[in-house]
Amino acid sequence: MPDKYAVIGNPVAHSKSPLIHAEFARQTRHDITYTAILAAEDAFEAEAQRFRLQGGRGLNVTLPFKHQAYALTQERTTRAEQALAVNTLIFESGVIRGDNTDGAGLVRDLHTNLGLMLRGRRILLMGAGGASYGVCGPLLDESPAAVIVANRTLEKASALCRHFESIHASGGVLAARSYEDLRGSPFDLVINATSAGLVGDMPPLPATVFAPGALAYDMVYGRSTPFLELAKGAGAQTADGLGMLVEQAAESFLVWRGVRPDTRPVIEMLRRA
Ligand code: ATR
Repeated sequence: MPDKYAVIGNPVAHSKSPLIHAEFARQTRHDITYTAILAAEDAFEAEAQRFRLQGGRGLNVTLPFKHQAYALTQERTTRAEQALAVNTLIFESGVIRGDNTDGAGLVRDLHTNLGLMLRGRRILLMGAGGASYGVCGPLLDESPAAVIVANRTLEKASALCRHFESIHASGGVLAARSYEDLRGSPFDLVINATSAGLVGDMPPLPATVFAPGALAYDMVYGRSTPFLELAKGAGAQTADGLGMLVEQAAESFLVWRGVRPDTRPVIEMLRRA
């Protein structure tokens, strides 16, 4: 019998995770099934437990259930603790373990696919919601010179900084800023972790934030966004979140199966599609 995995979310029909994990399984010759589970907003726990009790070995968790997944776990990795959210559930010997591979996926995409080392770099992280919580710890782990968190609602950026200051040894490089306060501070890496691009909007970002040779990274994938257009106009390099999507999936596959799949052919396949 193949080992059973799935992604659970609402909505979930658009998810590329079943396709990505099918490719990983084919490549590594692992005998698994990977399906998509649509859970009603109030039925996450019931659906996750049903899958587990039917022999499921693990779940990827997507919006809006990453906090509920955190609450469901009995054991959690440090990166899940830091993110206050879980995107990977591991069902083993009657214990529910939680991990968060989003930040590792972003950092790996930056390093391995885009050739950007973060040590000593100045990073601007836009947004202070779940997406920013997911990546902030792994970004700090890379010893950047600064991680400035900008958000429309400044208090949410300040709360994120206080959270990471209290739990992360290199939290001293973190600071919250409003978008207006970013004038005149150039960054090597500008990450859009807001949901603005999904509705064709963008944060009120001054075009002067891009240092020469800067990379603009939008976690949204499969489309250009006003943020990436602004960055291109300012002469920055640009990347969408497709690499992060595949890398966080590879990290989950590694957690479950003990093997890291080769992401490059999968990224290329999705790019072509
Ligand atoms: P997620 O968990 O996916 O990150 P979220 O918690 O709703 O979603 O957070 C969305 C983030 O995008 C927030 O930082 C939000 O800013 P506010 O906290 O000020 O609401 C940001 N955001 C959404 N739409 C935006 C827009 N049009 N311009 C700027 N920021 C936006």
